[in-house]
Amino acid sequence: MSNLDSKLTEYAEKFNAVLRNFLNSLKCEPKILADSLKYSLEAGGKRIRPSMMFAAGELLCVDRTELEQYALALELIHTYSLIHDDLPEMDNDDYRRGKPSNHKVFGAGNAVLAGDGLLNTAYSILLSECRKGNKYVAASEFICESAGIYGMIAGQSADLFFGAEGQINEEILGYIYENKTAKMLTAPLVVPAILTDGKYYSELKLFGINFGCLFQLTDDILDVEGDFASLGKSVGKDKKEDKCTAVKLFGLEGAKLRADILADKCLKILNGVEGDTSFFEQLVLYTLSRKS
Ligand code: IPE
Ligand code: IPE
Ligand code: MG
Ligand code: MG
Ligand code: MG
Repeated sequence: MSNLDSKLTEYAEKFNAVLRNFLNSLKCEPKILADSLKYSLEAGGKRIRPSMMFAAGELLCVDRTELEQYALALELIHTYSLIHDDLPEMDNDDYRRGKPSNHKVFGAGNAVLAGDGLLNTAYSILLSECRKGNKYVAASEFICESAGIYGMIAGQSADLFFGAEGQINEEILGYIYENKTAKMLTAPLVVPAILTDGKYYSELKLFGINFGCLFQLTDDILDVEGDFASLGKSVGKDKKEDKCTAVKLFGLEGAKLRADILADKCLKILNGVEGDTSFFEQLVLYTLSRKS
């Protein structure tokens, strides 16, 4: 197992223990509500956002216990975004995390509510953290902004709108990538920076945005070149739905070239951060050739 693999496994296990605690405390009525939340949360998922948060915490010497509830909130929001993203009125995807999508099992109404429930719960968790003091408020606010109408929701809205219009150019694609994906991958790095009163805030934010765009670029490439067994989700969907992707704009080879350029940029940004950044360097290289 490579160093990165063992770190990712370690962080995912630590995160899954936090998630288990949360799931064990759920007391929803009717039972289908808890079942539908659990179904998507336990379906797997790489846990890349919590892992990045724990790694950034190690880099900046922030105790992991300080980050666990933020990581939980972020993964709840991410999971809600996937449930809604798969709905027939959005991307109409039948599979997610290797299993039938939430709405295929529970129906669209319950899937909407499962997403709503995850989002509400994430905000309750973030509000509770605010009680600890000002910097915890700032960290919570950063996650809210990354997920909201100036973040992920704006990106998802643009993805739908420009996809339906058949409109695409570099500026539109950049707006979609940055908002629907990159902001939710920047938050895990910025939260620990905020808790240290701003250590490497700008560098980590810039890294997060570029890494997030790289992550979505490779997601788009995998939609063409990937396989269902490794990805756990359908392939060839972006073309079918005429989505705004880097592959549509630049072609497959052009998209790969841009992924290489973004990866270089990410590595250069890390040069400006002191300490052991090897986890993030390896994560960039892994993302370039990822299969899942
Ligand atoms: C999928 O995110 C949606 C995108 C932002 C491309 P992930 O690839 O992190 O999905 P999971 O959490 O591992 O299922
Ligand atoms: C979705 O991007 C990003 C989200 C905010 C959920 P995609 O629509 O490309 O993600 P997948 O391919 O369905 O995971
Ligand atoms: Mg989508
Ligand atoms: Mg999708
Ligand atoms: Mg995709």
